[in-house]
Amino acid sequence: MIKHVAVIGSGVMGHGIAQLYALAGFSVSLYDLQEELLHKAKASVEQSLDLLEKEGVITEQDKSSALERIVLTTDLQQAVAEADVITEAVPEVIELKWQLFAQLEQFAKPEAIIASNTSTFSIARLIEKAKLPHRFIITHFFNPAQLVPLVEIVRHEQTAEEVVTATVKLMERIGKAPVLLKKDVPGFIANRLQTALMREAFHLLEEGVASAEDIDTVMKAGIGFRWAFVGPIETADFGGLDTWQRVMDNLAPELDQSITAPQIISEHVNKGELGTKSGAGIYSYEHVSVADRLHARDEQFIRLTKLKNER
Ligand SMILES: NC(=O)c1ccc[n+]([C@@H]2O[C@H](COP(=O)([O-])OP(=O)(O)OC[C@H]3O[C@@H](n4cnc5c(N)ncnc54)[C@H](O)[C@@H]3O)[C@@H](O)[C@H]2O)c1
Repeated sequence: MIKHVAVIGSGVMGHGIAQLYALAGFSVSLYDLQEELLHKAKASVEQSLDLLEKEGVITEQDKSSALERIVLTTDLQQAVAEADVITEAVPEVIELKWQLFAQLEQFAKPEAIIASNTSTFSIARLIEKAKLPHRFIITHFFNPAQLVPLVEIVRHEQTAEEVVTATVKLMERIGKAPVLLKKDVPGFIANRLQTALMREAFHLLEEGVASAEDIDTVMKAGIGFRWAFVGPIETADFGGLDTWQRVMDNLAPELDQSITAPQIISEHVNKGELGTKSGAGIYSYEHVSVADRLHARDEQFIRLTKLKNER
């Protein structure tokens, strides 16, 4: 029975994952390299729980119990000693993940599940150096992890059946919509779909077809509006497969086929313009509060979840 969860790495994804487990009643050890990072992560969890309370999703009691269930630590051995499930959310550097997995195999309980939140590595690559590959699985949360329902689960043929079953159940228990992939492909499903769309969005921007604002409006007012309730395969069925056959035959050759990041992104990166985190990206964030913008985004996601749950 799963009671104790350890989350390794308390950054953008780790703190949200820790919050999810704590709200669902698990005791959580949250590990990072420095105390300061852990305190920042706990403050972010508190803010997110405040918002959920304000929106009527949880009670004040739920909030304080969840916060009490999260124990912060910079001692890896202590973090994982009691853990039934360990979720890693350290940076996307394979050597770092391998190094961590070797330590986890040494410190964790023999039956503990080791789940990676990798966005890009295949499970085959992740377990290349593992001594106990049957314990490894991918649970890929979507940012912000505490609010977006999707979790993609990727197993290896060596992953134990019990690990797969327990992981799917665990994701359901913490309120997620898990999708178990049938094959181990890079980028899984969500990031492949998203990358295909992003490539064309930036191509249209580079070609001067529309402004960034207008491209974003097309998504938010059109495609994205539909996609919160109707998936792409359903869209094809609803629109008529004969129509979609013509659309794809006519348009597919017109679409961007690049196999590297768009030049416009690389130019901004080279200038140190990384988006909200550096105050400038495609848009400027010089005179706006990024914290307010993220708060508003989270508020909208919570309201969308409520709306979707009404169905
Ligand atoms: N940010 C996203 O939108 C997103 C979405 C889905 C998946 N992911 C994946 O989640 C993982 C984490 O991404 P993130 O965006 O949270 O990164 P992040 O940089 O925000 O956080 C990573 C955290 O790990 C800590 N860390 C670094 N080295 C460590 C080590 N050796 N042991 C323990 N902790 C260590 C860092 O101090 C930091 O707090 C990556 O694999 C990433 O690809 C990210």
